[in-house]
Amino acid sequence: MINIAIDGPAGAGKSTIAKAVSKELGFVYVDTGAMYRAIGIYLSRLGIDPSDEAAIDNAMPGATVDIKYIDGAQRVFLGEEDVTGLLRTEEAGNMASSVSRFSSVRTKLTQLQKDLAVKQNVVMDGRDIGSAVLPNAEVKIYLTASEQARGERRYKELTEKGEKADLNTIIADIAARDHQDMTREISPLVQAEDAILLDSSDMNIEEVINAVLGICRTKGVID
Ligand code: DC
Repeated sequence: MINIAIDGPAGAGKSTIAKAVSKELGFVYVDTGAMYRAIGIYLSRLGIDPSDEAAIDNAMPGATVDIKYIDGAQRVFLGEEDVTGLLRTEEAGNMASSVSRFSSVRTKLTQLQKDLAVKQNVVMDGRDIGSAVLPNAEVKIYLTASEQARGERRYKELTEKGEKADLNTIIADIAARDHQDMTREISPLVQAEDAILLDSSDMNIEEVINAVLGICRTKGVID
């Protein structure tokens, strides 16, 4: 199976790019951040403090996260419940970032991710895909952009949806999340040694997609 790993900090456009590239290649897109977000929701529903490792360890055996593909799109299930629509909030992202530092959470989700990658060709995005989940991936990309560029994109996205937003607050949130993800002990966000760095600060979506496809071609994954 061919595995393409795309890692990088919050708001770098990983999911947009990974989704487009997977469509182009006919691979399955696996959004690992969504799995951490689902666990964040599971723990928060139980009223567990995101810094209480003992309580999280106790609760994790009861968590059932499942990934299903409906009309080609990834849906995330907590038990029987499709929670996909609840995942893309700032709160779920922060909760995910907080609880993702604990080994009981990472072990469970890493195994699920590895299992998905052995049975099909995948484009998988996250923080530790190239460094820990799929160390033998054929293509590894570290997709980043300046805090300013990532903040401005997020700001545009929110204001276009008619939501109120403050650019400086968004940039501060992005910086805080990066710090949390880069400084945790287990599988921190890091550019894998053999990953190719792609800085999209001055690129549009089309250019980034083409750059990723170009890298896939160079690596002999596509013609
Ligand atoms: O990509 P995202 O914003 O949906 O991810 C939410 C959080 O989940 C992120 O801040 C850290 C955690 N995460 C992780 O630790 N490892 C991954 N492979 C993906 C996400």
